[in-house]
Amino acid sequence: MTDDATPTPAPETAGGAPRLPEPAWWTSAVVYQIWPRSFADSDGDGVGDLGGIRQRLGHLHDLGVDVIWLSPIYRSPQADAGYDISDYDDIDPLFGTLDDFDALLAEVHALGMKLVMDLVVNHTSEEHPWFVESRSSLDSPRRDWYVWRDGGADGSLPTEWRSFFSGPAWALDEATGQYYLHMFATAQPDLNWENAEMRAEVHAMMNRWLDRGVDGFRMDVINFIAKDPASLEPGSPRFVMGERIHEHLQEMHREVFAHRPDRELITVGEMPGVTVDDAVLFTAADRGELDMVFQFEHVGLDSGPDSKFDNRPVELVPLKASLARWQDGLAERGWNSLYLGNHDQPRSVSRFGDDGEHRYEAATLLATVLHLHRGTPYVYQGDEIGMTNAGFTSIDQYRDIESLNWHAERLAAGDDPEALLEALRTRSRDNARTPVPWAGGAGAGFTTGTPWIDVAVGRPELTVEADRASSGRSVFEHYRRLIALRHESPVVALGAFELLAPDDDRLWAFTRTLGDEGLLVLANVSGEPYELDPALHPALRRRLVPQVVVTNAPGSTGLTLGPWEARVVRA
Ligand code: NOJ
Repeated sequence: MTDDATPTPAPETAGGAPRLPEPAWWTSAVVYQIWPRSFADSDGDGVGDLGGIRQRLGHLHDLGVDVIWLSPIYRSPQADAGYDISDYDDIDPLFGTLDDFDALLAEVHALGMKLVMDLVVNHTSEEHPWFVESRSSLDSPRRDWYVWRDGGADGSLPTEWRSFFSGPAWALDEATGQYYLHMFATAQPDLNWENAEMRAEVHAMMNRWLDRGVDGFRMDVINFIAKDPASLEPGSPRFVMGERIHEHLQEMHREVFAHRPDRELITVGEMPGVTVDDAVLFTAADRGELDMVFQFEHVGLDSGPDSKFDNRPVELVPLKASLARWQDGLAERGWNSLYLGNHDQPRSVSRFGDDGEHRYEAATLLATVLHLHRGTPYVYQGDEIGMTNAGFTSIDQYRDIESLNWHAERLAAGDDPEALLEALRTRSRDNARTPVPWAGGAGAGFTTGTPWIDVAVGRPELTVEADRASSGRSVFEHYRRLIALRHESPVVALGAFELLAPDDDRLWAFTRTLGDEGLLVLANVSGEPYELDPALHPALRRRLVPQVVVTNAPGSTGLTLGPWEARVVRA
């Protein structure tokens, strides 16, 4: 999000031929997400911290990532693992101090990487001084900084909106007799973005972090900040994104980013429910909003009509069609972020692949397919060694507020306890929140104490140490190659995308083309061998051996793809 990021008008070269505009730096970058609680613990209290991250920076440098995104480390009562912030200008003592942060930032920069903070400004913690003041009286100067409404005379809630963490999205404040809105936990009251004073405070806070040296923001549920006024009227069944969202983001861009043309910054907005058309508006460089968004279409394909816990199997045809639609939709204007997992989603190899017999192949296949799309890939901690779902068998092992609230609600409604545990085993956010197993042993090299949440059950052999040492079958090595490939090859970063064989329910195949460079990506999304049809692409009629750029099955070069084999060839 700099002037560099905005394609400038093509200048003439000496010979008179127009030059293409400079692509933004993040078109060839890869981002690594750290969820600090479970990354590495340096002080033995069982919770990951900034000291732990500093000790493990070499791992990320070896991997070759360009940017590290830190999930929230600000001061927080931790009702939602740090997404409930009580002081935007301080570090939570669980994670360290501002001095630790400055040291981490300096080390990240010294290694040639960037550091991005999470920006959580749809809501604060109920313990944030702004909210404490807002709730103190009906005429508090900060009353209007949050979304307050009267209930109906009949005792009804202001609207019928449900919170994402179960139950209604409104909580009664007994003292003042009004309800406040909380789209997430009751401890996470929503800010009122209609209030200009509040917006200015948020911009000032962002500017302080950029002045401190951070390189951008991942913006939490940022499309939720603008509420459609009509959907806030009594009786409205659900939240609708308000039109002022573009105005708010453009204002933020002007107030925070536009006057820093010398900095290479990055902004990514997390946006549940956005469409391709919305995303074009959010990410088109000439509109001055965001660099890219996290969209949710592909991670919603296996949700039931009522809840994500009503889980369906993922089918390949709609999955690849969904990603392809986003490739096409953002090809001319805008930019995609690419992800299959994060701290809110199950582990990608368990969800989209095979976390049993073919775990190595499936993890590397998914990485290959994702990283060969056009966009900026995000690697979630642990995916680079093919970490699997948690495998918890008791509700006592869960920590996540979303999972616990949902479980309690469904149990009270009389649902079968075993079925509830099975749903959590598939979809709980805790699946991706278990400690990174750096090594074997009780604390898994994550902590010398007792981890705040159990290490994933069932695979003691799966550690960073073991993965990196397993010659020829290291998931980490495969990621390293994919990241290096993006850095080296403009066709990976910028090439046009075309999906092949869209109706094939086992083959994920596509091409990338830039000038006279071409790549063909072939992936067998199944546990059985797959016979390629030479008619799929002209490259398949030539000998494939010299053409292979990346593969997870080095010996295999003919027209048969082995189980979960992925191959990228020059085409
Ligand atoms: C999205 C975050 O990724 C998630 O972890 C959090 O619970 C909600 N937003 C609320 O901040």
